[in-house]
Amino acid sequence: MHERKRIKAALLGLGTVGGGVYKLAERQKNEMEQKAGAELEIAKILVRDKEKVREGVRTELLTDNWTEILEDPQIEIVIEVMGGIEPAKTRILEALRAGKHVVTANKDLVAEYGRELLDAAESTGADFLFEAAVAGGIPIIRPLKQCLAANEIGEITGIVNGTTNYILTKMYEDGMDFDEALAKATELGYAEADPTADIEGYDAGRKVAIMASIAFRSRVVFSDVYTEGITKISARDILYAKEFGCVIKLVGRARNTRGGIEAAVYPMMIPEDHPLASVRDSFNAVFLHGDAVDDVMFYGRGAGEFPTASAVMGDVIDVMRDIRYNCTGRISCTCYRDTPVKPFAEAENQFVLRMKVENRPGVLASIAGVLGAHQVSISKVVQKIITDGAAELVIVTDAVKEMAFGNALEDLKELEITREIGNVIREY
Ligand code: NAP
Ligand code: HSE
Repeated sequence: MHERKRIKAALLGLGTVGGGVYKLAERQKNEMEQKAGAELEIAKILVRDKEKVREGVRTELLTDNWTEILEDPQIEIVIEVMGGIEPAKTRILEALRAGKHVVTANKDLVAEYGRELLDAAESTGADFLFEAAVAGGIPIIRPLKQCLAANEIGEITGIVNGTTNYILTKMYEDGMDFDEALAKATELGYAEADPTADIEGYDAGRKVAIMASIAFRSRVVFSDVYTEGITKISARDILYAKEFGCVIKLVGRARNTRGGIEAAVYPMMIPEDHPLASVRDSFNAVFLHGDAVDDVMFYGRGAGEFPTASAVMGDVIDVMRDIRYNCTGRISCTCYRDTPVKPFAEAENQFVLRMKVENRPGVLASIAGVLGAHQVSISKVVQKIITDGAAELVIVTDAVKEMAFGNALEDLKELEITREIGNVIREY
């Protein structure tokens, strides 16, 4: 075994996650030698504003000069927790090309440039680890790459955005309206500064791209993922979900089908007895099926200072062990296949369509006629009289291609008996 006592690392960023990593490294100081075979020293911290007061952090560690870190041969690990694409991407590439190991929590970057970053790591035999990039504190990248490596994974479905899960839980359980629930999620620090990425499904979409790439061993990037957010979910949708024994969740879902990989984010009605239905508030969970292991669910905190720092520090400790045993670069890119990603129009789903129609004879027949013409089979219909000669219809379909359902919907909008299309939600 290689005898060494101290490994130096640099933190890039000292915000929510960086602050958590710093504090956790301090808290674990006396354990590191036994856990990782060496002490960990955070030798430099890169920030934008060096003058800002950072409680509990030694000011001499702060720098706004990246070159100081890049050119210090004693710094072996770079922990990138700044976020965003640039300058994070350039800095990570420079660090890897200089032979430094990199740990990151940056989902935006990994979902788009994962291959380039992993290739750069491979070229110098460096570790590039990103456990915190998906579902914060929940272990999912390492279980997929290691513990479940002997499985063929057919499907992976996750509640991977805490903000939207919190909003939907409050709407479902407390009857809160969307804006109030979003304001509360922001107040509790779950939402991004600009919550668009949360509520429109982009944050979950990035996590799906990363999970799908690893689960199916074939590269999926963010632009391959269809995204639909939760802004259209209303109290009426929740009422029908309850009537059908379901909850509504924003899910990220990837399936490895005969025609290629499907990757998407959308709100879904999930039966109350499915394990994902019990994931409440800001908690996250990832549910998958492997041919050998059967069903598995990972559950926990998907964001926040210490849950995310927990995943980052787990990676750092792994890198330290690899350095100590001279086996860095052991697990690099696992995308050895080249499976095509299906156009989303080809994906098959079951739909719950809510629409307001004229309440008179022949209405159901004309709707059934349009759906039938597009090969959309009906599995269930619920009708409620509203007022004013109008009725609300909720039609649940059998599984059908997205394109066929979309075309049928366009024709339904044109029917003279259609007053309004309320919403369309997929069903699990
Ligand atoms: P944050 O609170 O906004 O912190 C960002 C930090 O990076 C700040 O300290 C900032 O410096 C520094 N920084 C930003 N741009 C910089 C630049 N160009 N040069 C030098 N320093 C720069 O962000 P965060 O919530 O900790 O998130 C960090 C990363 O973790 C992101 O990739 C995010 O997606 C990921 N992540 C976050 C969570 C979470 O719960 N927050 C969970 C999972 C993954 P100043 O302090 O000087 O402004
Ligand atoms: N805004 C994100 C969430 C933070 O709500 O899950 C972690 O990515």
